[in-house]
Amino acid sequence: MHAAKKIDAANKRDFYRELAAQLSALLAGEEDPIANAANAAALIYHSVPHLNWAGFYFLQSNDELVLGPFQGKPACVRIAVGRGVCGTAIERGSSILVEDVAAFPGHIACDTESRSELVVPLIHDGGIFGVLDLDSPLPARFDADDQKGMEELAAIYIANSSWED
Ligand code: SME
Repeated sequence: MHAAKKIDAANKRDFYRELAAQLSALLAGEEDPIANAANAAALIYHSVPHLNWAGFYFLQSNDELVLGPFQGKPACVRIAVGRGVCGTAIERGSSILVEDVAAFPGHIACDTESRSELVVPLIHDGGIFGVLDLDSPLPARFDADDQKGMEELAAIYIANSSWED
């Protein structure tokens, strides 16, 4: 059984370095993409301060994301590519950091408490297959260090998971 160690870091870079080490240890030896997404969401949700949602959406066709493993309140199941922050991140193929969700055109409010959001696309072998989505009840909760840190966590998740039969 994994016990998430409280991270006592002086700054965000140290915090994410430690969280990356914990995620690598947690996923080591397991390749199932759903199991790994579930454990990654749980570790992130319980380790990163001021989140009200952390989880995954996966592309089930070229034009639609479907809800994957997450922690937080029940969420919208299907998001069209190009819609909301998640669907826009798929279209752009790059992370989106939203300081104020009310100012993002087309933001989809799954939890009305969310004030800021960070979405990181999941890219494997040059193909985009989903997103890691983080929501916070605090405005401007995420900055460039959070984006870099979450992109590293997404990369660890991708490197440890296999989609081969
Ligand atoms: N806010 C997202 C929808 C997903 S929920 O935040 C969990 C969006 O605009 O795509």
